[in-house]
Amino acid sequence: MTRYACVTGADRGLGFEIVKQLLAHGYTVFAGRYHTEWTLLDDLSKTYPDRLVAVDLDVSKDASVAQAAAAIRTRTTSLEVLVNNSAITGDNVSTIADPLDFDEMLKVYNVNAVGALRVTNALYPLVAAGTKKLIMNISSEAGSIGSCHRKGWFAYCSSKAALNMMSAITHNNLKEIGGQVILIQPGWMKSWLSGHYRDEAPLTPDIPAAHLIGIIESPEKYKGNSPAYIDYEGNPLPF
Ligand SMILES: NC(=O)c1ccc[n+]([C@@H]2O[C@H](COP(=O)([O-])OP(=O)(O)OC[C@H]3O[C@@H](n4cnc5c(N)ncnc54)[C@H](OP(=O)(O)O)[C@@H]3O)[C@@H](O)[C@H]2O)c1
Repeated sequence: MTRYACVTGADRGLGFEIVKQLLAHGYTVFAGRYHTEWTLLDDLSKTYPDRLVAVDLDVSKDASVAQAAAAIRTRTTSLEVLVNNSAITGDNVSTIADPLDFDEMLKVYNVNAVGALRVTNALYPLVAAGTKKLIMNISSEAGSIGSCHRKGWFAYCSSKAALNMMSAITHNNLKEIGGQVILIQPGWMKSWLSGHYRDEAPLTPDIPAAHLIGIIESPEKYKGNSPAYIDYEGNPLPF
């Protein structure tokens, strides 16, 4: 039986590595394409011409999400897993004593929190029709209010906290039909998330991605009343 997955923000970084590893595990993957000049997905589609389906997807825009969902529905009526991975950071320096850019803050919320909910809302019927009924939301330790230590990163941290709450509410729906949401802290990775490549980070994204495939393949042990909020090795974080 064909197993379908969808990953947002899949051009590079963690999203691309999750796509690569889902393909290696036999999934047919709808890979959300946002950064159209980046060609990793094109290169990968040469290896998986039938199972890698790149779909234009800007999670911050209703019309783009609706179009992407319609394109996915022409290929399948169910998804085993939806991975909401897209994110931006916004200003990560200013403290409460500095001028803050509230318009930028709304953009960060719109991608990191509302964007994930927008995609979830559009694809929920397909997830509900899958066997796993699994949504994996890539959060961050930055979204934990219980362990907050930063003096800046207002937009990013609070957008991830909002994502955590949206995940809890979605989980309450999904668990009634045997599904679940899992929130992931993927670790500090080398990526372009901050707008430039962070080579000083200790992890390459393929390492957390390999662990995340393990979690996607056996999500049952993370089932509970609330969504599991775990690091990529499965250790729980405080909400
Ligand atoms: N890197 C870390 O250390 C770290 C730590 C904790 C959590 N995370 C989380 O891990 C996830 C992956 O991050 P990453 O490090 O792999 O960074 P990344 O390479 O920047 O990945 C994020 C992806 O989302 C895309 N994106 C941005 N705006 C979008 C939009 N409106 N619609 C659709 N896609 C959009 C980005 O495209 P562009 O490249 O064009 O912006 C990029 O492909 C994120 O949720 C992040 O918050 C990362």
